[in-house]
Amino acid sequence: MTFVHRTSNIVHLNVHTISTPPKKVPFVFIFPIALPLKMQLSTKHLLGIRDLVPNDIQIILDTAAQFKEVLQRPIKKVPSLRDVTIVNLFYENSTRTRISFELAEKRLSADTINFTASGSSVKKGETLLDTVNNILSMKVDLVVMRHSASGAPHFLAKHIPAAIVNAGDGINEHPTQALLDAFSIREKLGTLQGKKIALLGDIMHSRVALSNIYLLKKMGAEVMVAGPPTLIPKYMQQAFDVHVEYDLKTALEWCDVANVLRIQLERQNQVLFSSLREYNLQYGVKRSLLDNLGKEIVIMHPGPINRGVELDSDVADSKQSIILQQVENGVAVRMAVLYLLAGGKTIQN
Ligand code: CP
Repeated sequence: MTFVHRTSNIVHLNVHTISTPPKKVPFVFIFPIALPLKMQLSTKHLLGIRDLVPNDIQIILDTAAQFKEVLQRPIKKVPSLRDVTIVNLFYENSTRTRISFELAEKRLSADTINFTASGSSVKKGETLLDTVNNILSMKVDLVVMRHSASGAPHFLAKHIPAAIVNAGDGINEHPTQALLDAFSIREKLGTLQGKKIALLGDIMHSRVALSNIYLLKKMGAEVMVAGPPTLIPKYMQQAFDVHVEYDLKTALEWCDVANVLRIQLERQNQVLFSSLREYNLQYGVKRSLLDNLGKEIVIMHPGPINRGVELDSDVADSKQSIILQQVENGVAVRMAVLYLLAGGKTIQN
């Protein structure tokens, strides 16, 4: 149902503001129950970018742009998900993603519950499915989940009725990170189409890399993966139609954007390079390298940064870096994802 609401200082999103009178107090359409067809995603869950069609990505990015505009206003809260309850299930450590989802939910007026495996009955042996079913019995509508096991949210999606958002599963996907990365590139360069994006470093263990590759290819960007041969799976070029490069300088000369990835030591159970110092010397992104390119490229990093390993501080903190903009954009992007999935769920029901 769509209805019209007149508002002064409260900003209601979902939100198609009519530009004609009144000018100071705009009319705002709210559609908390049903999304118009053109805003419906083709999927009930967000398990990975692999499952999305380009139109889904476009809808999410465009909706996020509206939410970003709302987040610049003095009152940043909208009532869009007022009757929705969301659980943030974090079985693996997180700073940015967990806070960003929680903030997005609060900005949308959803009720939120935060669950971390440490300190829970998981420590007494309770299974993932039992844990989630118990939480859902308390009338929870939507599950945001991070898990160290690749495929954990896909498993859950087969067994529970609620919509699931994957907040990172093992070395598989991190879809909202790729969406916020894409949003940040589009904001900086105007479009993704035809842009050259290099993903640098630990491609093998990076869910950010995989989600970025799926998304960037679907949206018409050119993608390169670059790093040591031991950290780039052999099948990359054939499986994903990406450029593969083992020389950092060549990769930086090629790209418009360098998305520098964290060396994931916690996921490496064998020696894949001689030392962190050696890695920094050969594959660390340094000021001197960037100064000799003859062009200014955009520097990104999903965080957390290993400063002085994959990225030097004077690059991470420079004007070329949009790392903190990525984090800022994460809230708007996650608001868009939650809003679209919650609306879609209601329509289906
Ligand atoms: N980028 C990212 O996922 O960071 P966190 O692990 O801190 O959530």
